[in-house]
Amino acid sequence: VAIRTALTEAFGLASPIVLAPMNGISGGRLAAAVSNAGGLGLVGGGYGDPDWLRRELTLVQAETDRPWGVGLITWRATPELVELALGYRPAVFLLSFGDVRPYAAAIKAAGCRLVCQVQEVDMARDAAAAGADIVVAQGTEAGGHGAVRATMPLVPAVVDAVAPVPVLAAGGIADGRGLAAALMLGAQGAMIGTRFAAADESLMDERARARIVAARAADTQRTRVFDIIREYSWSEPYTGRALRNRFCSDWHDRERELAAALATEMPKYGRAVEQGDFETAVVFAGEAVDLINDVVPAAELVRRISVEAEAQLRVGGAMLA
Ligand SMILES: Cc1cc2nc3c(=O)[nH]c(=O)nc-3n(C[C@H](O)[C@H](O)[C@H](O)COP(=O)(O)O)c2cc1C
Repeated sequence: VAIRTALTEAFGLASPIVLAPMNGISGGRLAAAVSNAGGLGLVGGGYGDPDWLRRELTLVQAETDRPWGVGLITWRATPELVELALGYRPAVFLLSFGDVRPYAAAIKAAGCRLVCQVQEVDMARDAAAAGADIVVAQGTEAGGHGAVRATMPLVPAVVDAVAPVPVLAAGGIADGRGLAAALMLGAQGAMIGTRFAAADESLMDERARARIVAARAADTQRTRVFDIIREYSWSEPYTGRALRNRFCSDWHDRERELAAALATEMPKYGRAVEQGDFETAVVFAGEAVDLINDVVPAAELVRRISVEAEAQLRVGGAMLA
C-alpha cells in the first residue's frame, strides 16, 4: 500500500516526501536520489550562486527522469536567476522568505508549479493570493532559517487558511511518525531538511554530518550570529537554527559587538570554513537531530520514512476498532 495524497497525485510520487532545498547541501545528486526513490527532490539554490546552480541543475537533469525542483531564497532571487533555473525545466520552484509576487508569473508561465514556504498564517494567505500551487508551513523546529511558530499548531492553521491549496509540513520531521502526524494535521506531505542533510549524497561536509548524528535537539539554537559573520542581511522575523558551537556560544547575545569586530572575525571565520572547523563554521540543523543516528543513502531514508508512516497510519486506524 502506498500513501496517496494531493502531492503524490500531482507529481506521480510513490511517497509524500519532499527534500528541502538546503542551500549548498541539496545538490543535484541528492535531489535526484530522492526523486528516483519516489519522493520529490529539490535542489537548494539558496543565495543564488549561478555557477553552482548551473552545475547542480545539470546534474539533477542527468541523474533522474522523475520530477524534481529547485529552491531559492526569495529576497536574494533576481529575474535572471529565476530564468536560469527555469531553463533546466524543474517541475516545481520553491521560494522561501520574502515576497514571491515579482516571480510568480514567470514561474507559472513556464508550466512550473510555484511552491512557497511560509512561517505564519498571514504569509500563507499572501502566498496563496500570489498564486502558490503548494504552501509549505515551516515550524520553528526546522533547521536553517525560519521564524517562531511551532509546526504542530501552524500546519492546521495554514491548511484552514489556504484551502483548497495543498499544504506541506516542514520543521522537525525526520521519520515516519512525523510524516504520519503531518498528514493527520491536514498536510499533503512533509518537506524534510535536516534528516536528508545527513544522507550519503548530501553536499554537507562529512565532519558536519557526524556532528548532526552526535547532536541532541538541546544543542540547536536559533541565532543571527552566522548571518552577521557571513554578511547576510536577514530581516525580522528570521533567524537560523544551527548546532551551538564555540562561535555561537561566544557571540550569541553579543551581536552588536560581533558586527563591530567583523574586520578581525571574518578572516578567522573564513579560515574555519576552509578547514572544516565546525567549532567556528556553521552547521545548520533542526530539532529533528534527536531522531538522526546514521548517515545512509537518501533512497534508504525515503524507504524507511514511507514504510514507518504507513505502519503508523495503520496503528492509527486500529485505534478506532
Ligand atoms: C542545512 C539546512 C539548510 C537550509 N537551507 C535552506 C535554503 O537555502 N532555503 C530554504 O528555503 N530553506 C532552507 N532550509 C530550511 C528547509 O527548507 C526546511 O524548512 C527545513 O529543513 C525543515 O525542517 P527540518 O530541518 O527539521 O527537516 C535549510 C535547512 C537546513 C537544515
